[in-house]
Amino acid sequence: MSAESLTVVDNRTGAEYELPIVDGAIHATEFGKIKGPDGAGLLSYDPAFLNTASCRSTITYIDGDAGILRYRGYPIDQVAEQAGFLETAYLLLEGELPTAEQLRRWTDDVRGHTYVHTNIEEFMAGFRYDAHPMGMLLGAVGALSTFYPDAKNIHDPHSRYIQRVRLIAKLPTIAAYIFRHNRGLPYVLPRNDLDYIGNFVNMTFEIGGRHEPNPVLQRALEILLILHADHEQNCSTSAVRSVGSSNVDPFSAVSAGIAALYGPLHGGANEAVLKMLDEIGDVKNVPAFIEGVKDGTAGTRLMGFGHRVYKSYDPRAKLIKQVADSVFAETGVDPKLAIALELERIALEDEYFVSRKLYPNVDFYSGLIYKAMGYPTDYFTVLFALGRLPGWIAQWEEMLTDKETKIARPRQLYVGSDERPFVAMGDR
Ligand code: CMC
Repeated sequence: MSAESLTVVDNRTGAEYELPIVDGAIHATEFGKIKGPDGAGLLSYDPAFLNTASCRSTITYIDGDAGILRYRGYPIDQVAEQAGFLETAYLLLEGELPTAEQLRRWTDDVRGHTYVHTNIEEFMAGFRYDAHPMGMLLGAVGALSTFYPDAKNIHDPHSRYIQRVRLIAKLPTIAAYIFRHNRGLPYVLPRNDLDYIGNFVNMTFEIGGRHEPNPVLQRALEILLILHADHEQNCSTSAVRSVGSSNVDPFSAVSAGIAALYGPLHGGANEAVLKMLDEIGDVKNVPAFIEGVKDGTAGTRLMGFGHRVYKSYDPRAKLIKQVADSVFAETGVDPKLAIALELERIALEDEYFVSRKLYPNVDFYSGLIYKAMGYPTDYFTVLFALGRLPGWIAQWEEMLTDKETKIARPRQLYVGSDERPFVAMGDR
């Protein structure tokens, strides 16, 4: 028996059980040892994982009450201020900050894989001109698995490294193709003389061989990607782990993560925030909109507010507000910022939001920044995916190398009909 335990008495049978507590948790299989009068073991029931740890992880630490986020132990503000995106990806993937030589090698490896097979270009050309960017992204990343059958060697660390490099190198290329596809612009090939962010921005915005890079906007984009790089067991990461636990290749597992991120309650919220600001239209309409959210007549939640884990200000949202200042100083202020600030001001004082501990999350201001940079609303979640990719891969690899991992296969509480005889068509 472990040093810490929970003693419970089953009042159905009178039996007493000692449930070991390890790392602040009780393994759910311990409940299975508690047998009811019918001999059936007890299940734990938690359909949305409200109080269930699905894994052990060493990657990201969150204290939702204190508003703390750390990557591999390093506070998020220090990482965002001092690291580059590929350096952050290395930290998440390898567990330690790279030396200068390790970073050079990692950057070179990524640089060497930025091109995609020309058939991927043709595949993407088949999408409708107005296809949603996230639909294209998840399709294209899923399709990559057919180009790299060696990616099935998921238990070979060298193969995993190659797939990791391929994914991180090619996602910006695919994302840029998506951006241009929606505009009917020809694709721009990667430029490996540019850095990771510079190459991506060039592939999206270059016209006729010309693009004037803006270092302030590029660094702002890099910080946003770093802030999104991992967030422990969120919906998309859980999807990557769950799908990956079937031992499928990482391209397929990551495309499942992209599908999860697409949803408006997850990554799609940054797009939803901008739509909401458009609908509100003017600062003077904010109080009525807030009332509508509270009494349900607005037909929407206050998008960009609330979080399953943060019950105080999302530390990423704080940093994003600072990034917004640097970006708007370059691009001029979006009039929608005034609506967002007023929404935040009123919501932070309103009993409904205060009592439910609803604060701005990472998506509340990021959309306004992406818009100022020149990205259209339906493209914002693609940028979120670019940022989240290292986290997905790090979590996928951690899942694969964890001895406790088995295929994710939840149980259910069956609440349907008892056995009944089949009714022939003519008798229904
Ligand atoms: N506006 C109005 N009410 C809200 C909101 C909101 N944004 N979020 C939660 N509530 C209310 C909800 O109605 C419920 O009230 P009641 O107890 O009276 O029924 C209470 O707060 C608890 O909400 P919940 O749905 O049980 O909380 P959850 O942890 O399941 O949901 C959430 C978390 C992020 C899905 C939710 O807060 C939400 O829908 N927010 C808006 C969408 C959004 O901004 N998503 C981005 C999340 S952060 C980045 C990411 O994951 O991509």
